[in-house]
Amino acid sequence: MTQDELKQAVARAAIDYVVDGEIIGVGTGSTANFFIDELAKIKDRIKGTVASSEATASRLRGHGIPVFDLNDVTSMAVYIDGADEITASGAMIKGGGAALTREKIVASVAKQFVCIADGSKLVETLGKFPLPVEVIPMARAAVMRKLAELGGQPRLRTKPGTDEAFITDNGGEIIDVVGLSILDPVAMEERINQIVGVIAVGLFAKAGATVCLLGTPEGVKTLTF
Ligand code: A5P
Repeated sequence: MTQDELKQAVARAAIDYVVDGEIIGVGTGSTANFFIDELAKIKDRIKGTVASSEATASRLRGHGIPVFDLNDVTSMAVYIDGADEITASGAMIKGGGAALTREKIVASVAKQFVCIADGSKLVETLGKFPLPVEVIPMARAAVMRKLAELGGQPRLRTKPGTDEAFITDNGGEIIDVVGLSILDPVAMEERINQIVGVIAVGLFAKAGATVCLLGTPEGVKTLTF
């Protein structure tokens, strides 16, 4: 099976976690996109969605799925999203697609976080994938110095093929921290959250996934945390 077929399989399996008549939080990225395409097939069963990025909102609307402003939503049954890395205890690195801040906000409102990922995302220790940190642009250099003290090599994310900073949906910039071995994800998340100028860190450890649907050649495996 190709990686895309594994992503499609978990996207299909995630439909079982969609609660009829409810608002569904929807993540960002290639796996989330497969989920959106599956959700479109049962869109009449749900009240609507909250999107974790402009890209996701536009794909949802393209399918005729209602997208609510989070401020108008008081309860969300489930948040469904991919991950760049996930451990066997449900801690994740996210933000490869630069949507980490909104992903964290939307996920924080949902009762459940269902992570959908192909098997390559399951790791023993987080950190091989560069850890994304969204920052206020004027704090970029100061935050990079603090992140270097944690043992990684911070790199400013740039627009493809240019030296210009990549700008997120929130007007922030992304620093990708290379070379970390994150042995205590909760402590690392807390430490980075305390750096002034950080908007959000792509470590989802304190509030990680509650379920992970992992795509493997033998079928979709369900991990619960
Ligand atoms: C988006 O900002 C990310 O958190 C994605 O959820 C993550 O990068 C997984 O993306 P893929 O599904 O494309 O691998």
